[in-house]
Amino acid sequence: MMDLKIYGIDMWPDQKIQAFRSALLDWYDREKRDLPWRENTDPYRIWVSEIMLQQTRVDTVIPYFQRFLETFPTIPDLAAAEEETLLKTWEGLGYYSRVRNMQVAAQTMVEKYEGKFPETMEEIRSLKGIGPYTAGAIASIAFNLPEPAVDGNVMRVLARLFEVDLDIGNPTNRKVFQAMMEVLIDPQRPGDFNQALMDLGSDIEAPVNPRPHESPVKDFSAAYLHGTMDRYPIKAPKKKPVPIFLKAFILQNQAGDFLLEKNDHSNLLAGFWHFPLLEVEEEKELTLFEAPLEVAEESDVRSRFQADYPFEIDWQEQNFPEVKHIFSHRKWHITLEVGQVKGTPDLAEGSLWVSAQDFESYPFARPQQKIWEVFQGQQE
Ligand code: ADE
Repeated sequence: MMDLKIYGIDMWPDQKIQAFRSALLDWYDREKRDLPWRENTDPYRIWVSEIMLQQTRVDTVIPYFQRFLETFPTIPDLAAAEEETLLKTWEGLGYYSRVRNMQVAAQTMVEKYEGKFPETMEEIRSLKGIGPYTAGAIASIAFNLPEPAVDGNVMRVLARLFEVDLDIGNPTNRKVFQAMMEVLIDPQRPGDFNQALMDLGSDIEAPVNPRPHESPVKDFSAAYLHGTMDRYPIKAPKKKPVPIFLKAFILQNQAGDFLLEKNDHSNLLAGFWHFPLLEVEEEKELTLFEAPLEVAEESDVRSRFQADYPFEIDWQEQNFPEVKHIFSHRKWHITLEVGQVKGTPDLAEGSLWVSAQDFESYPFARPQQKIWEVFQGQQE
């Protein structure tokens, strides 16, 4: 690892490294956030929290974390969970492959490790869904191993400390920060050291409105001392998400039940239920001289829908606000098509008539929850 350029850490004498560790850990002991996964160092709890925190904010995670542990108190409980219960406890958090991978990893632990968390870095790293960051976090926090846990927060803090002029959004640069952390990490308290950097990076050293003069390690920070805080970290701008235009069909039968479909296993959101969706071309702005394309699109999408559901439908001509939802690199723009179906036609496998009272037993991904909120908001 020492052949990597590590931005001047090798210029820090031992004494300075010791002083840095003390300054950071003293601050952590005084200021650490009181979070439910910090109550103890049970590896199962640490794992659940770290997976949830990967793409989700701390405030959002807390209630999910508590509910998840009530629903699946042990690794064998998670291994044996029904898919519907599993998705229901993750409903709204997004990136559902996270929880599916967790179940596979839990099953591995039941088969290979008597339902317990393995204790070496190599074994932890071999579990499904556990990458270098998560493995480092679990190894250091739960097992006190001197393993770095380098996430975006940690890279931001290090980039400012050492004026690292590498793009922190480029995954190949992670290994440089990893090498820096191997030098810096406190061998006695690696878990606290990692978490102190996470706390620092998510508040005092936040991406926007940082408060660098409050940092417990400002005297060690090259960017702070040189007045270059606003230049670091280097981060290339993200590409704009690709817009996707969809119609969601909210249809009720004679009894007032709603038409729902279940995603099959080829879908990213496999196992979730949703209002039927069809992709449409972008709706063009009408100019004064153009034919009304929108109207053509509208009847076209209804007839495409009727090819799958040849029902007699009384369409409602009401406009609902657009529902927007961003999935990593796509932005969905969903508009609603609402209608009343005559009678209660039979449905093919994968579709059901469901009453609104029963929605709570069907896992809905976030866009469907938003669609439902918009629909309900306009009904009152
Ligand atoms: N973000 C990711 N892991 C975290 C942790 N253990 N504490 C606080 N924030 C985090």
